Amino acid sequence: MKGVVFSNVLIYFLLCNLAFAKECVNLFPNKAELASSTMRAKLSSINDEAWKKEMLSSYQLRSPANEGPEASKFQAAEEKFDNTMLRNTNATGDFKLPGDFLKEVSLHDVRLLPNSMHWRAQQTNLEYLVMLDVDRLVWSFRKTAGLPTPGAPYGGWEDQKMELRGHFLGHYLSATAMAWASTRNETVKQKMDAVMSVLSECQKKIGTGYLSAFPSEFFDRLENLVYVWAPYYTIHKIMAGLLDQYTLANNGQALNITIWMADYFNTRVQNLIARSSLERHYQTLNDESGGMNDVLYKLYGITKDPKHLKLAELFDKPCFLGLLAVKADNIAGLHANTHIPLVCGVQNRYELTGDEQSMAMGTFFMDIINSSHSYATGGTSHQEFWTDPKRIATALSAETEESCTTYNMLKVSRYLFKWTKQVTYADYYERALTNGVLGIQRGTEPGVMIYMLPLSPGSSKAKSYHGWGDAFDSFWCCYGTGIESFAKLGDSIYFEQEGKGPGVYIIQYISSTFDWKAGQIVIHQNVDPVVSWDQNLRMALTFTSNKGPGVSSVLNLRIPFWANPNGGKATLNKDNLQIPSPGNFLSVTRAWSPDEKLFIQLPINLRTEAIKDDRPQYASLQAIFYGPYLLAGYSQHDHEIKTGPVKSLSEWITPIPASYNAGLVTFSQKSGNSSLVLMKNQSVTIEPWPAAGTGGDANATFRLIGNDQRPINFTTVKNVISKQVMFEPFDFPGKLLMQQGNNDSLVIANNPGNSVFQVNAGLDGKPDTVSLESVSRKGCFVFSDVNLKAGTALKLNCQQPDDGFKQAASFVMQKGISQYHPISFLAKGSNRNYLLAPLLSFRDESYSVYFNITN
Ligand SMILES: *[C@@H]1O[C@H](CO)[C@@H](O)[C@H](O)[C@H]1NC(C)=O
Ligand SMILES: *[C@@H]1O[C@H](CO)[C@@H](O)[C@H](O)[C@H]1NC(C)=O
Ligand SMILES: *[C@@H]1O[C@H](CO)[C@@H](O)[C@H](O)[C@H]1NC(C)=O
Ligand SMILES: *[C@@H]1O[C@H](CO)[C@@H](O)[C@H](O)[C@H]1NC(C)=O
Ligand SMILES: *[C@@H]1O[C@H](CO)[C@@H](O)[C@H](O)[C@H]1NC(C)=O
Ligand SMILES: *[C@@H]1O[C@H](CO)[C@@H](O)[C@H](O)[C@H]1NC(C)=O
Ligand SMILES: *[C@@H]1O[C@H](CO)[C@@H](O)[C@H](O)[C@H]1NC(C)=O
Ligand SMILES: *[C@@H]1O[C@H](CO)[C@@H](O)[C@H](O)[C@H]1NC(C)=O
Ligand SMILES: *[C@@H]1O[C@H](CO)[C@@H](O)[C@H](O)[C@H]1NC(C)=O
Ligand SMILES: [Zn+2]
Repeated sequence: MKGVVFSNVLIYFLLCNLAFAKECVNLFPNKAELASSTMRAKLSSINDEAWKKEMLSSYQLRSPANEGPEASKFQAAEEKFDNTMLRNTNATGDFKLPGDFLKEVSLHDVRLLPNSMHWRAQQTNLEYLVMLDVDRLVWSFRKTAGLPTPGAPYGGWEDQKMELRGHFLGHYLSATAMAWASTRNETVKQKMDAVMSVLSECQKKIGTGYLSAFPSEFFDRLENLVYVWAPYYTIHKIMAGLLDQYTLANNGQALNITIWMADYFNTRVQNLIARSSLERHYQTLNDESGGMNDVLYKLYGITKDPKHLKLAELFDKPCFLGLLAVKADNIAGLHANTHIPLVCGVQNRYELTGDEQSMAMGTFFMDIINSSHSYATGGTSHQEFWTDPKRIATALSAETEESCTTYNMLKVSRYLFKWTKQVTYADYYERALTNGVLGIQRGTEPGVMIYMLPLSPGSSKAKSYHGWGDAFDSFWCCYGTGIESFAKLGDSIYFEQEGKGPGVYIIQYISSTFDWKAGQIVIHQNVDPVVSWDQNLRMALTFTSNKGPGVSSVLNLRIPFWANPNGGKATLNKDNLQIPSPGNFLSVTRAWSPDEKLFIQLPINLRTEAIKDDRPQYASLQAIFYGPYLLAGYSQHDHEIKTGPVKSLSEWITPIPASYNAGLVTFSQKSGNSSLVLMKNQSVTIEPWPAAGTGGDANATFRLIGNDQRPINFTTVKNVISKQVMFEPFDFPGKLLMQQGNNDSLVIANNPGNSVFQVNAGLDGKPDTVSLESVSRKGCFVFSDVNLKAGTALKLNCQQPDDGFKQAASFVMQKGISQYHPISFLAKGSNRNYLLAPLLSFRDESYSVYFNITN
């Protein structure tokens, strides 16, 4: 959303649904919704001072342990947390991880191959990163430091009025470092180096170690419990970005800047505790603080300075982490994205200190999200908050699944995979990446992303409160995480096993290469594009080496939970290999050489998955999957599927063959110098060419079906002339365009009777037009109007052809402006059919994700 106009409807929803938000984050006891970033953005930018004053009048950062019905639970949790964790650490910096944890692979060593959608998404993101202007990005940093400010600041959440300004630049440092490592694109390197030198200059100018795009007074406000929008959140992003510049781009200055910042905040926090209390410091954490603990643990991992460990621990928010320590799923009402990064922090802590409780907290958290708080996409949060466990059916709206929570959940599951090597965590990673990340870019448009991924029936990515963002005017939290997500698509495909039997775990099937230094080989992973009409995933591994045969090593290939256990195939060169059951790894040991080829073919299951809701009345609410792909149905609001008595999914869900694309057509006419297109809506009308954001492409596309029900191809006008055809709306398989008699409008109906038209050469005599003559009413033609204008309903007309008539009955016929995604299915129901395609492929079109499936 570009402006700051707030819909009352949204406010209403927020008020109704979040009245119970907990004090562990709740800033406004009577106005809980203000903990959402959406609302806080409004508070930052609003000009309505009266409204603002009213909102702020109830502002508080309360300590959760003392008040409210939840007090005793939180208190117990906090105590346990304090006793077992915070006060008892003996971190000396020399803790060694258990030997067989997997090692992450550097982005420098992984390259995506251009036949994958992952590569395409990475490229679109790279284009965005280089489109952004350095002076504009750093404008507020220079301003804060009192340096000259060439250019103008960006808008959206980077606007001068926005108290969160600067957060995006932090993400930009991370994303550019990742993009540089993943592509070695020199343009992106120049940009990030330029940003880095400005930041260094700003920090020096300020002279205290403080570095931000807003003044340090924001922290005075926070510490004095005066309303301010999440200043630590932004500091986390900046420090994390700096550390990524250090670790991925080898920028030593970045580490120095971070250390100086850590010194500043260490002094700041110690002063607050001395001046006021530890309790007061914890109160400040009730405001969204991002992953301050996480980045400080990371810093400690680099510096091994106990001061950094101690400071990190002070950002382990007890009222939340305590819940996880006592294994209480009491997260309903908490702001999701405020808390997930804290989990990543303690997971990092486990790696650095060996504290087992930190590990257990992450495991428990993943478990409750997966079992009780997530959508079919793997994503979590409704209107930015968690809701009651296993009550997802009533947590569906356009404001579901904030994208940045998915980014953070990927980190949580990745840690767990590294530690346990359990396929289930890699399966989760794939689910959330495929369905919650890949589809949040609008096709290949650089800088167009979403905030929320809507999941209610008839949703559209274009039609949530924010809708699609804008390259220079949005910069929401989810833009920050978005540019990182797409810059690190090369991550978590490969993990390395060090030690006596070196090995590689291949946990994602994404076409790519991995330069495995320890194994002395480059692994080439080639995945055939997945399609619906051939229900197999096929992947081949080949090897190159410039050092002769590699060392003996083991390759472990994930057999995902969605693979059909029967009918799989794996070969090493000419030999067949036994594929283990889904949920395991296929492990092959070998001194891999360029002569070898490991091939695997996994049959992909179609399946339904029940919504995470244990109330019987929602038991029939199901999502449909094809392997890892969540399929959404083109739908305005319908989500009923009555299958009738069927034994298997394949009886009512059938693949749409690739060849069907050849039968898609769009009709248009000219009015003055504008083109109008034939569209079906409630009626069939001639409308302006569908604009971006409307999802109208699908309405303007029809599939040709022969009189004998066989598909008909359209290549040129000439080869369809004199064919008798029917027109099936793209998004309404099974329905047809039908005439209802002379001078009566055309409709979309189920009845084939009056739906056959003969394609004739255009009555207007032009070479690219056709005229559609009814077969059951010879001499009658589909007709718009002699005075054509947008909105004109199409009719059948049997008039004597004069010039006006000839023109109004002639249509330019062209290839359909919508095309079937290669993963498309037809779902047949007795009430209606649906065209299914991966949720990730939808742009503006309306869809339903959960269907009420009954027989
Ligand atoms: C910390 O170290 C002290 C002294 O070495 C030891 O007595 C104590 O048990 C340790 N605590 C933990 C939690 O390991
Ligand atoms: C970096 O990538 C961008 C976007 O694809 C491209 O325009 C630019 O030319 C690349 N820079 C270099 C040095 O190749
Ligand atoms: C970082 O700081 C250290 C110690 O202050 C200094 O020796 C080093 O040169 C600095 N490195 C960079 C790249 O600025
Ligand atoms: C998530 O839950 C499903 C069952 O609904 C289970 O099969 C899977 O292993 C769980 N995954 C994780 C990561 O816990
Ligand atoms: C239509 O086109 C498809 C793919 O382009 C082709 O496979 C098919 O044979 C064609 N059908 C006819 C009837 O020409
Ligand atoms: C053609 O289009 C232009 C710009 O859209 C408009 O200004 C002009 O009036 C149109 N001309 C006619 C004849 O409709
Ligand atoms: C579809 O038709 C309805 C009813 O005629 C109308 O209100 C609506 O605006 C139309 N939608 C579009 C996108 O044309
Ligand atoms: C597309 O058609 C549907 C009816 O099938 C209608 O509800 C919707 O408004 C139409 N959308 C556009 C953009 O025309
Ligand atoms: C066709 O219908 C319109 C109104 O829908 C009417 O004005 C016109 O007279 C009709 N023409 C014929 C030939 O029936
Ligand atoms: Zn977000």
